[in-house]
Amino acid sequence: MDAAVDTAKDATGPLLEVSGLAKHYRLHGDIYSKLAGQKTQYLKAVDGIDFAIRRGETLGLVGESGCGKSTTARLITRLVEPTAGEVRLKGEKVLGFSEARMKRMRSEVQLVFQDPYSSLNPRKTIMHILGRPMQLHGIASSYAERRERVLELLARVGLGLEHIDRYPHEFSGGQRQRIAIARALAVNPELVIGDEPVSALDVSIQAQILNLFRDLQEEFGLTYLFIAHDLSVIRHISDRVAVMYVGKIVEIGPADTVFANPLHPYTQALLKAVPEADPDKPPPELTLKGEVTSPVDPPPGCRLCGRCPLESKVCSESAPPLRDTGDGRQVACHNI
Ligand SMILES: Nc1ncnc2c1ncn2[C@@H]1O[C@H](COP(=O)(O)OP(=O)(O)OP(=O)(O)O)[C@@H](O)[C@H]1O
Ligand SMILES: [Mg+2]
Repeated sequence: MDAAVDTAKDATGPLLEVSGLAKHYRLHGDIYSKLAGQKTQYLKAVDGIDFAIRRGETLGLVGESGCGKSTTARLITRLVEPTAGEVRLKGEKVLGFSEARMKRMRSEVQLVFQDPYSSLNPRKTIMHILGRPMQLHGIASSYAERRERVLELLARVGLGLEHIDRYPHEFSGGQRQRIAIARALAVNPELVIGDEPVSALDVSIQAQILNLFRDLQEEFGLTYLFIAHDLSVIRHISDRVAVMYVGKIVEIGPADTVFANPLHPYTQALLKAVPEADPDKPPPELTLKGEVTSPVDPPPGCRLCGRCPLESKVCSESAPPLRDTGDGRQVACHNI
C-alpha cells in the first residue's frame, strides 16, 4: 500500500475523518477554591486534533500515558461526547446520527481493548459472547446459522470447535484477545480501533496477535486505528503514524518516513528513548528537559514549551498548527 498518498485525494474518500476534535473535562475544585473565587479549571484531554484514515490502511496512534489516545478512541465511537469538533464516517457526520444510524455504526466501528478479561462477560460461553452481537445486529437469524458463523470466526482467529462452549476464564491471555478480536469481527466491521490491544501480552504472544491483526485486515479489507505507547508495536503494524503529546497531534505521516527521519522534537525524543536490547549500552539519551506538560489549563503556546531544544519567542505565543512538510507528512512546530 502506498502510504504516502494524500487521503484527501483518494477517489473514494477516507473512511474516517476527524477535525478539530476536542474533549475538555471540567475539574471540580474544592469548596475553598470556589469561595476564594478561583476560576474553573479544564483538563484538555484532547485539544483540537485532525486526521483521516483511508479504507484499508492502519493509522498508528502513539504517545505517552495520559496524552489522550483512549479519549480519542472514545470520542470517535461516541462513548464520550466531544467539547468541539467533528467526526465523519464515510463522509457522514457521526454527531448527527439518529438512533438507528448509531446502531448501524456500532457494527461498522468496533473496539478491541487492552484487557480482554474485563471486556468479556465471565458468565457467558464463547458461543454467547460471539453469537449475541450477531443476533443484535440481525446478521445470522437462526441459532444454527450463528453457531456455524461462530465456528468460522474461531477458526479464523486460531481457535477451534473445542473452545465454543467454554468460558473466558478457561483461556490464556493471548487466546482471550483472539476471542475479543473474533467478537469484533462478528458484526462485519469496517473500522477496528485497537486501544493497546497487545500491551498486556507477552512479547512472543504480541507478535502472534499483531500478525493476526494484519492477516485479518488483508482478508476482510479492514481499516485500523491502532493505539499503542510501544513504538516497536506501532512500527510493526502501521502504514501511517500519528504522534500525540498532551492532547495534540505533533507529527503525522507515513510510518517509514516518520521512523526514519522524525522531524518534531517530541517525536525525536520519543524515538531516542526506546531502550536498547543490549544491557551494556548506555541508557537512552534524553533530549527533552523537564517533566511532561500538565493537560490542566495548558498555556496558549506550544505544549512543548519549556522542554524543547528548538524553542523561540513565538512558541509561547501561539500553538503551532499541523503544516505539510512536502513528504506526505504534517508537523506542528514553528521552527521546522
Ligand atoms: N472522565 C474523565 N474526567 C477527567 N479527566 C479524564 C477523564 N478521562 C480521561 N481523563 C484525563 O484525560 C487525559 C487523557 O486520558 P487518556 O485515557 O485518553 O490517555 P491515554 O493516552 O489513553 O493514556 P494511557 O496510555 O495511560 O492509556 C488524562 O490526563 C486523563 O487523566
Ligand atoms: Mg489509554
